Amino acid sequence: MRILVTGGAGFIGSTFVRRRLAATQDTIVVLDKLTYAGNPANLADLDPGRVRLVRGDIADGPLVDELAREVDAIVNFAAESHVDRSILDPDAFLRTGVLGVHRLLEAARTERDRRGTGSRYRFVQVSTDEVYGPVPEGRSREDDPIRPSSPYSAAKAAGEHLVRAWHETWGLDACITRGANTYGPRQHPEKLIPLFITNAILDAPLPLYGDGMQRRDWLHVDDHADAVGVVLDRGVSGLAYNVSGDGEERPNRAVTEAILAQLGKPWSLVRSVPDRPGHDRRYALDGSRLRALGWEARVPFAAGLAATVDWYRENAAWWQAVRSGDWDDYYRRQYGWRLEGSAPA
Ligand code: NAD
Ligand code: TYD
Repeated sequence: MRILVTGGAGFIGSTFVRRRLAATQDTIVVLDKLTYAGNPANLADLDPGRVRLVRGDIADGPLVDELAREVDAIVNFAAESHVDRSILDPDAFLRTGVLGVHRLLEAARTERDRRGTGSRYRFVQVSTDEVYGPVPEGRSREDDPIRPSSPYSAAKAAGEHLVRAWHETWGLDACITRGANTYGPRQHPEKLIPLFITNAILDAPLPLYGDGMQRRDWLHVDDHADAVGVVLDRGVSGLAYNVSGDGEERPNRAVTEAILAQLGKPWSLVRSVPDRPGHDRRYALDGSRLRALGWEARVPFAAGLAATVDWYRENAAWWQAVRSGDWDDYYRRQYGWRLEGSAPA
């Protein structure tokens, strides 16, 4: 298959590209805007004969139309992906999550029509469990209501609605994945796990929001990437698929303790800081629909976290380069006042 992978220079997208090249004969075009989160280094070790990186925006209609002609499927990972940044500055989230998804869908529909009836042209929208909003008890199923709490998850929900509309109205062959909180190598250090690993390595404070008892069902990036591949290959058009972790939701405090234990660093680094507004206390997914396609999470959390800590320990040059550019400015805006008013956790 020839695939256009948008956002393929980011954390999950680049893992998808790496694993897809290893497991199939596919060729891949990556379209990535290379925002602060996109990193060509994530693709640098891959075979240039099978993967090509194009720098550009998914909201650029003519560019997307041109690339859509080269492939048989589009997998859209491109998004602004951090909840805290969406609270500081939502604009880019909506531009990419709504206008960008619209352009991609139009490119897919036009190309499908150009090739004629009977041609298969698949669209996979990589979405998130955060579209369900907080889940006080039980587990979200794919047909549950969508109630996003943050500008990030609202933009992702909007993208899903567009995908569904293009499927219903024009019969576009499209699936949606809703992945749980993902962790692993090459994740931008703005997110909880890599932020706390890299801060702990630097003996810097670990800013734990509120009481730290918010719970997440963690999913290793290899498992997430493989799940997207299974949906691309075997998903039923028109359906969304939850991608759950190992089914055991862990409070942020427990994740923090595990990181510190692995690094041999003291709990005194952890600071209790004012909470994120609109913070969802719990996410939990029912993953049975995707398991029925033959996928299951393979990486246990303890082993995956230990390997992730080791990766950041061994790849300081990667994350030091990423904690540059606008990093200091972002860090001050997000954490400056929070850390000033912080208390021991
Ligand atoms: P990431 O921030 O590491 O990567 C996003 C990539 O998209 C970056 O390479 C960025 O440069 C690119 N991008 C942003 N705007 C673009 C645009 N307008 N045009 C082209 N490229 C653009 O994020 P990630 O963690 O790899 O997430 C990938 C996808 O998975 C996102 O859609 C996200 O919503 C979804 N997701 C993430 C998680 C998670 O825990 N990280 C969980 C579930 C779903
Ligand atoms: P994050 O990695 O931002 O993912 P999401 O908001 O998409 O779940 O955060 C994971 C959890 O960690 C979430 O409950 C918020 C919390 N958190 C902190 O306590 N401190 C931090 O500095 C960050 C970034 C997150």
